[in-house]
Amino acid sequence: MTAFKGMDILDGSQFSRPDIDRILDVAADFDRRLEEHLSLDLLHGYVLGTLFFEPSTRTRLSFETAMHRLGGSVIGFSSAESTSTAKGETLVDTIRTVDQYVDLIAMRHPAVGSARQAASVARAPVLNGGDGAGQHPTQALLDAFTIQRERGSLDGATLVLCGDLKNGRTVHSGVEIYKNFNCRLVFVSPEALCMPAEILDGLRRQGVDFQETADLAGAIQKADVLYMTRIQKERFADPEEYERLKGSYILTRAMIENSNPRLTVMHPLPRVSEIAVDVDDLQGAAYFRQARNGVFVRMALMALVMGKI
Ligand code: CP
Repeated sequence: MTAFKGMDILDGSQFSRPDIDRILDVAADFDRRLEEHLSLDLLHGYVLGTLFFEPSTRTRLSFETAMHRLGGSVIGFSSAESTSTAKGETLVDTIRTVDQYVDLIAMRHPAVGSARQAASVARAPVLNGGDGAGQHPTQALLDAFTIQRERGSLDGATLVLCGDLKNGRTVHSGVEIYKNFNCRLVFVSPEALCMPAEILDGLRRQGVDFQETADLAGAIQKADVLYMTRIQKERFADPEEYERLKGSYILTRAMIENSNPRLTVMHPLPRVSEIAVDVDDLQGAAYFRQARNGVFVRMALMALVMGKI
């Protein structure tokens, strides 16, 4: 197993199966201890910087909640406009500066590779909360935690990933995590938004069991988990192309009840129209529990990276 202390969390591919099992075990333990109101002051005296150059609700607030739950403090910003980036400061100079103030950095930035660039100049470990259409590894780990929670195991499961697989960083990181398990992957997207070729090539080289289709209804019938994603409007150069594709898949309650009532439905959120609200009170609708799980998984990652467990 990898030594976590001092590790940057940049990419879903950096984790082995024992690493993932360790993170999910620690997250489950933190959940249990919070439930029992046990003291969790492991990061008392430590400061997390949350540097969000792109909008976020869940990632930033669950990182901040996680740090507070661990007894630490948080500084940060939630938009580039309120920082000296607006005056022309480079990402590297911002990171070098914040690195003087904090022990850990959680960041989100529109440029692919930005978290890796930040990690190359920061003394503090960097946790990638999303770099453009690149990676979102902490989301992928909380997604794996959620599947384990909801279904007992990822092993043996058929996972259907649906929507904007081209631009969706949660699924890019997700497949790097899921490939460590004995599960089948089904990618559902319009052709224009299919999983990038380099990711598919990597999965083929590693012998991962996957298939591609545009047929959501057919995929639902054989799915254990359906992971819906938003069409990523902010990544489209052509607004007309977004308008053409935005309603490609809309999951309704009837689609599930008529074909696969045991289905677990997930979504990293925010949703726009991909899941009708009539799905929300189905037992298998796990997306708000999934958001809650982000706190436990991010607690686990920060405690491990700071060498406190
Ligand atoms: N899942 C996710 O990354 O949500 P936010 O964009 O709200 O952080």
